[in-house]
Amino acid sequence: MSADQEGKPVRIGMVGGGPGAFIGAVHRMAMALDGRYQLIAGAFSSSPEKSQEAGRELGLDPARVYDSWQQMLEGEAALPEDQRIEAVSIVTPNHVHHGPSVAALNAGFHVICDKPLTISSALAEEIASAAKSSGRLFALTHNYTGYPMIREARELVQSGGIGRVLKVYAEYLQGWLVDPIEESGQKQADWRTDPSRSGPGGALGDIGTHAFQLLEHVSGEQVTRLFGHRSSFVPTRKVDDDAMVLLEMSGGATGTLTASQVCAGRENGLRLRIYGTEGGVEWEQENPNDLRVLKKDGAFEVRRPGNAYVGASAASLTRLPGGHPEGYLEGFANIYTAFAREIRGEQNLEHPYPTVEEGQRGVAFIEAVIASSEQNQWVQL
Ligand SMILES: NC(=O)c1ccc[n+]([C@@H]2O[C@H](COP(=O)([O-])OP(=O)(O)OC[C@H]3O[C@@H](n4cnc5c(N)ncnc54)[C@H](O)[C@@H]3O)[C@@H](O)[C@H]2O)c1
Repeated sequence: MSADQEGKPVRIGMVGGGPGAFIGAVHRMAMALDGRYQLIAGAFSSSPEKSQEAGRELGLDPARVYDSWQQMLEGEAALPEDQRIEAVSIVTPNHVHHGPSVAALNAGFHVICDKPLTISSALAEEIASAAKSSGRLFALTHNYTGYPMIREARELVQSGGIGRVLKVYAEYLQGWLVDPIEESGQKQADWRTDPSRSGPGGALGDIGTHAFQLLEHVSGEQVTRLFGHRSSFVPTRKVDDDAMVLLEMSGGATGTLTASQVCAGRENGLRLRIYGTEGGVEWEQENPNDLRVLKKDGAFEVRRPGNAYVGASAASLTRLPGGHPEGYLEGFANIYTAFAREIRGEQNLEHPYPTVEEGQRGVAFIEAVIASSEQNQWVQL
């Protein structure tokens, strides 16, 4: 980084996130929260008209709103270095992660992309190779690792605070796909239930990969072997809408991971519980500021962000004094801000944001669960 860039917002372009899209707007709020980004370009939709419409709503210079991500990368690369984008945010359906990621990295841009990394291990490997050969940075927005109490749990578990880990339980339950809403054209359901766009996993890829990444992130252990069972409770559905997985961990723990989108009434029930020889930790996304810390021989305690007793990692991800709830947007912003700091060469946290390697593991996890459930046997990961 040249000295004149120091402290300046990162100039960024977005792929996806057009009118009516879900996560693109969340990414834009996350990048705005700490003033570390300037969104100056975009190819917001596969429809050029919708891309322009999004650009107008965002107040962008029409010359920087492109008809396709290919045109955006070409157009931006042709601009003087101090004007062109430095990074690309990719918020398209899963099958449009690989193309723009590889092309952006090879064109010299940093990439921040949503999960799952892509739709096959072979394509994941190509993204990882492009990140390596280009020397550019790559972040994957497994946003739940941006919650302060997740970092508190991680610090506690990995410093031996609950003893040797024996049991791990990761659960991600939603209910919004209990009916075949894709058949009436619901935008988010439409591509998520089409294997050519979602990849081979349904609920498994969409939310199971979040639970998997969070489990490995907090426990510090890797899943080494698994036994999977997938279901499509909606009979016409071409991907799973429910998956159950038995797990063996590298440190000897065992446990389960469940991902379901047919739990009627359940909103965004991501829950992580880890128990060791001396106690445990329990956390739920719908109540993210409470971390329950269980002790073998004592009462449990609830730790909350913004208090002096929390560890350095959680403290560094908290903006407000205790009692002022922070949540989804702040967690996302923590990933974005850590990425901007890394781009600017500033000092950062350990494990500031989820990496391309974690994305590769997520894709390998999807494939292993599918292989296991098809072969009805344990599979190595
Ligand atoms: N981290 C999270 O918590 C989280 C939550 C939701 C979605 N996601 C991920 O974000 C991604 C997008 O999901 P969503 O729910 O926002 O989907 P969405 O359908 O709401 O939005 C996708 C957007 O991408 C655009 N698009 C599609 N093809 C394109 C192309 N070739 N060029 C440019 N734009 C294109 C669409 O027009 C749309 O604007 C998915 O990978 C999903 O898994 C992550």
